[in-house]
Amino acid sequence: MSAPAGKIEHSQSRELVLWSCGMGRLRVLESSGAFRFIDLFSGLGGFHVALQELGGQGVFAVEWEPTLNALYRHNFGVEVWSDINRLKTDEDIDQKVPEHHVLTAGFPCQPFSKAGDQLGFQDTVQGNLFFKVHQILKVKRPPRFILENVPNILRHDGGRTKDTMFNMLQDLGYAVKVAHFSPHEFGIPQVRDRAYFVGSLDGLDGFEWPEKHKDPTSISKVLHTSIMSSRPIPDLTLRAIDMWGDFLKRSPSSLKMPSFPIWAMEFGATYPFEFETPSAVWERRRKYGLSGMHVRGSFGFELDGLPIPEQRARIPSHSRRQGDVEFPRWKRTFIRQNREFYRDNAGWINPWMNQWQPWDFPSSFQKMEWNAQGEERDIDNFVLQVRASGVRIKRPTTAPSLIAFTQSQVPILGANLAGGRRYMTPRECANLQSLGDISLPESDLDAYKALGNAVNAKVVKAIAKPLLFAIPGATNTRTTRTVGAAS
Ligand SMILES: C[S@@+](CC[C@H](N)C(=O)[O-])C[C@H]1O[C@@H](n2cnc3c(N)ncnc32)[C@H](O)[C@@H]1O
Repeated sequence: MSAPAGKIEHSQSRELVLWSCGMGRLRVLESSGAFRFIDLFSGLGGFHVALQELGGQGVFAVEWEPTLNALYRHNFGVEVWSDINRLKTDEDIDQKVPEHHVLTAGFPCQPFSKAGDQLGFQDTVQGNLFFKVHQILKVKRPPRFILENVPNILRHDGGRTKDTMFNMLQDLGYAVKVAHFSPHEFGIPQVRDRAYFVGSLDGLDGFEWPEKHKDPTSISKVLHTSIMSSRPIPDLTLRAIDMWGDFLKRSPSSLKMPSFPIWAMEFGATYPFEFETPSAVWERRRKYGLSGMHVRGSFGFELDGLPIPEQRARIPSHSRRQGDVEFPRWKRTFIRQNREFYRDNAGWINPWMNQWQPWDFPSSFQKMEWNAQGEERDIDNFVLQVRASGVRIKRPTTAPSLIAFTQSQVPILGANLAGGRRYMTPRECANLQSLGDISLPESDLDAYKALGNAVNAKVVKAIAKPLLFAIPGATNTRTTRTVGAAS
């Protein structure tokens, strides 16, 4: 059943709307015709782009990062509050935050992300910002909200984080639903799964999530083919791309490329990993360590006769962490698979190693992930990304999920996709987030970082459209029914 909602009364002349909610508070919204929204943690303004396209009027935003704060004002003409924590008391919120129909918030996700330390609500800087969103909802009681975060928030702390959010929002009188979506399910060539919470004070019985579609996407949709060059790719990166391109070329076509990550440093290595680890040996044989055990390190380098610090330098970084006296099963599996792969393919891998000397590259370049099973093995047909976990080679159907990139992780387009190898430009990444032609931060680094944090506007629009139907008090959604006769 819907949450008990309020009653709307329209005055004839200037659309004065009284919205009295189930909690007994009376709100007055003076509507200028559009529904009014606020954008918390506004970043580049993905929510703004979406809701503006649906006819909404942004009336308030909060962003503490100075470049983004100023840019939002420039792009959308909205005054932007800085640190949300400076909206301390209920009175502050009541006075400073204007009345609105829709609250949106992409609250910081690091505390809930698999990639972070997962402190969640215990993270005193970023993790408890949900409570601030909750406080604003409590004081201002907008009829609708949309919140966005990483999908891991649904599993975080065994589901308790999500339950806490639901309970707190429902206690305010909101009906709440959550689902996850990615832009590639809406025709945009980016895989970026995100959780969306929607809430309504007058129930969600009539609300339906947008349909996902399975049509193939292509990165060409977001590329600007007229761009000849952007930031140059460093020589070392280009050389690593050539090295893996040559690896693919040399691999016999009858051989199925492994779907596990290729860790070249394990080619020729025989140090212990199944029942003991190098760190355990260094602990047990404090004088000689691995020396005298007749085992080999990365790329088959000798260890016998070497002092322990030199042995350490010849063991892959994934296997030499102090205290790692037992490897997790996934790591044992990857090491075993790579050594077997090398044993079966040394005939063509050895000349490849001799030519490229992969040991001279940083560790992340010594690993490769082939995400293009069954495709022709020409590296310039693909989208590449240098990650800590290796050089990822992906089909050009989608770009990798934009993250708050370091510059080196920006996707690289193979020469056959872009007329020459090059990084994707900030504008192309903005297309991946469906941000239209808004101005971006001047520095590429700031732009990539903000784009990696942004919400995809097309996904928001698809979710918001059915949610904003019949918002109490907004004249450009259908408001003729009297909300309050709760069904
Ligand atoms: C996940 S991003 C949201 C991005 C936004 N939805 C978009 O489309 O670009 C979170 C944003 O919250 C901002 N932020 C973090 N803590 C804040 C605080 N205490 N006050 C205001 N903004 C904050 C960050 O600078 C970042 O831009």
